[in-house]
This record gives sequence, C-alpha cells and structure tokens, in this order.
Amino acid sequence: MDVTPTSSTDQTDLAALTNPNASPTLAPPVLTIDGDRLWSDLMELATIGAYDDEATDLIGVNRQSLTDEDAAGRRLVIRWMEEAGLIVTVDPMGSIFGRRAGLRDDLAPVMAGSHIDTVGTAGAFDGCLGVLAGIEAVRTLNDRGITTERPLVVAAFTEEEGVRFGTDMLGSAVAAGRISLEDAHALTDADGLTFGEELERIGFAGAAPVLLDPPHAYVECHIEQGPVLLREDVALGVVTGVQAISWQRVALHGRAAHAGTTPTELRADAGLAAAQVIVHVRAMVDSGRYGRLRGTVGHIAASPGLPSVVPDRAEITVDLRNPEDHHLEAAERDLAAFLDTLPDTQPGLRVETQRMARTRPVPFDEGVQDTIEKSAADLGHPVRRLMSGAGHDAQEIAAIAPTAMVFVRGQYDGISHNPREYSTPEDCAAGASALANTIVRLSQEETR
Ligand code: GLV
Ligand code: MN
Ligand code: MN
Repeated sequence: MDVTPTSSTDQTDLAALTNPNASPTLAPPVLTIDGDRLWSDLMELATIGAYDDEATDLIGVNRQSLTDEDAAGRRLVIRWMEEAGLIVTVDPMGSIFGRRAGLRDDLAPVMAGSHIDTVGTAGAFDGCLGVLAGIEAVRTLNDRGITTERPLVVAAFTEEEGVRFGTDMLGSAVAAGRISLEDAHALTDADGLTFGEELERIGFAGAAPVLLDPPHAYVECHIEQGPVLLREDVALGVVTGVQAISWQRVALHGRAAHAGTTPTELRADAGLAAAQVIVHVRAMVDSGRYGRLRGTVGHIAASPGLPSVVPDRAEITVDLRNPEDHHLEAAERDLAAFLDTLPDTQPGLRVETQRMARTRPVPFDEGVQDTIEKSAADLGHPVRRLMSGAGHDAQEIAAIAPTAMVFVRGQYDGISHNPREYSTPEDCAAGASALANTIVRLSQEETR
C-alpha cells in the first residue's frame, strides 16, 4: 500500500498525525469521505439479494447469513477491502477483517465494523453502512496519503441479525468469547442445516484466531433504525449503549382435530394458545409494570395449517427488550408464569420454551463517545446522545475493548428491517466522515 503523501497539504496533515514533536497547534486534518463513492457501494451491495417486496412495492434485500447471496456480498466486500489495500483475514465464524498497517504496527488496532447479513425484508443500510463506511474511511486515508499511528481494521461480522440461525450478534459474540465456536457451529436453521456446514459450503470457514485480540477501541457506524434523530432534526447520534434483549422460541403442542365435529371442550388448540401468548405479551407492555418494555411476537407458524383442522402445533418467537435488566427479568418471569397456566385452560396442551438469545444492557465507553462527538462537531454536526433499541456487534466487542457507535438519521419514522429503510446520501456521508475522523483520533492515542 502506498502511504506516501500526495500533496504538500497532506504532508502537513501527515506531520500532525505522525510526528510526536509536531506543534501542538497543528490540529489533525478534518477528513471528509467521498459521499458519492460510499453511496454507490451501498447501492451496489444492495443489488445482491434484491427481491420485489410485495408489501411495500419496493425492492428489498434478503441476504441472510451463509446463503449464496451472503457469499456473493462477502466476495464483493473483500474485493473492495483489497482494492483499498487492506490485508484480509477470515475467522472460523466467517467474520471478515481487513487490516491497514499503522506506523506502530505492534500496537493494538482501532477497529471499525458492523455486518452485511440482512433480515429477510431488509433495506440497504442496516449493517452495510458501517462496513462500507469503514472501507470508505480507509480509502480516504489512502487518497490523502495518511498513515495512522495504530493499525486500522475494518470488520464484517457474521450473522448479526440472527434471523437464520436464531441467535443475533453471533459472529461478534464468538469473537469476544461470550458464545463458544462449537455452540455457534451447531446452531441450525429452519431446514435443519447447521451453521458449521453452511459456513463450509460457502467457503468462508477461515483460519484466523477464534478469539479476537482486543482492539484499542471499536467504533460502529449504523443507521439509527428509529425516529429520534429525525424528530430532533440532527443527522448524527452518539450511542450511549444498547438495551437488554431476550429471545425465546415457544412451541405449543396441542391435538389436531376436525374443525366441524370436535366439541370445544375436547380441543387442545395450539393456535388459540399462541394467540393467548401474543395478547399476554402486549398486556405486559401496556401494564407499565416493566418500565420501557418492548415485546414482539415476530414469528408465528401453525400446523397442519389447514382451514378445517384444529392446529396441533404452533410455534412463535417472543422478543422482549428493556433498557433495565431487572425489568426484563421480571417480564420474563411473568411470561414464564403465564405459559405455565396455559395447560390449565386447555387440558392436553403442552408448552415448550427454548432460549435463543439473552444479552444484558451494555453501556458504551464515555471516552469513545466523546471522541465521536468531537469528530462530528468538527464536521459541523451537533449530535444527540441516545440508547440503541436494536442489538449491534458493538455490544459484544464492548466486552473486550472501549466501544461506542455513531448513529445516522433514518427517514420515514426511522423504519428499519423493511425495504422502506432509508438514510439520505448526505447523512450517510456525514456518518462515515464522523467515523473516519473518530478512528484517526483513536489511532493516535497511546493509551486509553
Ligand atoms: C438486530 O438487528 C436486532 O434485532 O436488534
Ligand atoms: Mn444492524
Ligand atoms: Mn438488523
């Protein structure tokens, strides 16, 4: 990689960045990334896994983890990383790391990352913005001939969404040591295919160490996926932390029977039980007993799924979230107690639960938050601090390194996990520029 300064201005910048004896009045340069180049990458990546979304009449993205589409997306991202001069490695979870050497290459790197897997009904931004903004930040440094003190790493973690193998933030959770490689590889998708087999199949079982060497700091740029920044008319936010998340699968086993001839009192209707759980989750939220509880039953399936047959089995997922863990624990206990009562209302009904994911609230590092805020301010962007409602790879890496996130304003009430998800090119560029300046600042730090 050529790190030779390309102009006299850049040489001044470089001196400020790399010479410890440089005049303290020489501020590091304020970098602005190439917004058109970033936008073009976002749009190109979104063509991989594109589908016609009937509900919105828009083109959505379905690039779930370890599918052929994910493999194609990975190949494109790796190509872009290599074109930017990054040395690419892949770990045994398939997570991708592109490294740029620093002047002091033995120091722990500054890492910028996110994910490129999507839910089945995604837009172009969730996760992809963070990875592509990281690559764009590196290109900007290349263009300006700047070498940072610490190395930089751009990461794309596998299966952040958890929609295929049932556990979110999976790649980053293994990299940070919360989930074992064996447990992750054994997870199965809806067709019974294991994560390990699918990773081998797409050719992304890499040899880099399973456990990530703690970076000096980790920063993730991400679309907000909520309405706060839009309502407050600010392009960027600094994320103070992520709320606690609980996912479980609830299987309701009843008895199939004829819809016309089976008396009501003889039924064990799994569909009815599923409906009761859904209503109960909403009642827990509405009760106000559990603080700022969010509750969602996002997956509902009943079998045999015929109009004239009482369902013998129903499966639902329950997603509960709360900024305060004690409230989430209390809500989980309430739900468990409710599930215990269901067989009393319909004899013969059996309830089975399976934990899919459980994470505690994660506060982000205040120093990294401040660095993001300063970097955004230098670009003329005041920020709003806010907690994240969504889960992110950053919450896993926060266990091993000082971490924070920059949020980019979304449009249309901040809708996300939907093809209507949208951030303007200008806001994406603002987020990526804030990321670029943040990682440069962090890379100049001796310690933290
Ligand atoms: C991750 O996308 C989540 O569901 O929070
Ligand atoms: Mn995401
Ligand atoms: Mn997501």
